[in-house]
Amino acid sequence: MASTSLIYGHRGVPVKFPENSLAGFAYAIAHQIDGLEFDVHLTRDRVPVIMHDERIDRTTNGRGRIIDYSLAELRQFTLANGEPIPALAELLALVAAKPVHLNLELKTDHQYYPGIERLVLGMLKRADLVYPVVISSFNLHSIERSYAIDPSQQYAFLTSARIGDPEDFAATEHLEGLHLEHYQPVGQVSERVWTVDDPAELRRLFARSVSAVITNNFELARDVRAAM
Ligand code: G3P
Ligand code: MG
Repeated sequence: MASTSLIYGHRGVPVKFPENSLAGFAYAIAHQIDGLEFDVHLTRDRVPVIMHDERIDRTTNGRGRIIDYSLAELRQFTLANGEPIPALAELLALVAAKPVHLNLELKTDHQYYPGIERLVLGMLKRADLVYPVVISSFNLHSIERSYAIDPSQQYAFLTSARIGDPEDFAATEHLEGLHLEHYQPVGQVSERVWTVDDPAELRRLFARSVSAVITNNFELARDVRAAM
C-alpha cells in the first residue's frame, strides 16, 4: 500500500547544495519536495536568518556568532556556493503561494534570542503561505511562548529521548507533533522522524506511514517511497 508519509528536506538538500541555502530550497521546490526543514537564529539587529549553527565558522567563509553581527555585516560572508546567509524573509518570498510544507526550527536551545518567537510569528502571519508552518524546537519554553503568541501555527517538540505518554504530553503542551530522532509510537500525535537517509530505515518508516521523515536526500527518499 502506498505510504502517506511526507518527505521534508533537512536543511534543504545538503547532498547537492550547501545546507540551509536558497539554492537548495529553490531546487527542492522546483522538484516538488513535500516540505522543507530549516533552522532560524537572530542577528544583532534582530533579523531572523537561516543557519544551523550559532556560529558561522563551519558553513561560511567568516567567523564568529550570528548574534554578534548585524544583517549587513553578516551578508559580507558567503556559503560554499557564494550566496550570502539567507534571511528568513527571502525563503518566505521564495515559497509564496507554493504548496510546500515548512518546518521552521527555532534554534533557541544553545543561544537564546529574547523575542525571537514574536518576530518570527509576525513574519509568518504576513507571509503568503499555503499551509500552517510547523514550528519546532528543542527548547520547550520557546514552543510554549510561541503557542501563547499565535495558536494558529503548529508546534512540535524536538527530542532524542523517549516520551513516556506522548498523547498526554502533546495535549498538555499544545503540540501538534513530536519530532523524534528515534521512532516510537505516539498515537494520534503527528510524528516526524529525523534525520533518515538509510533506505531500509526509510522503508520501515514509510510502511508505518509516519507523518513525515526529515532527510538529507529527498530524491532518494522519494524513490524509496515510490517503490513501495
Ligand atoms: O528538525 C530535525 C533536525 O533538524 C534537528 O536537529 O541539529 O539538525 O537541527 P538539527
Ligand atoms: Mg534543524
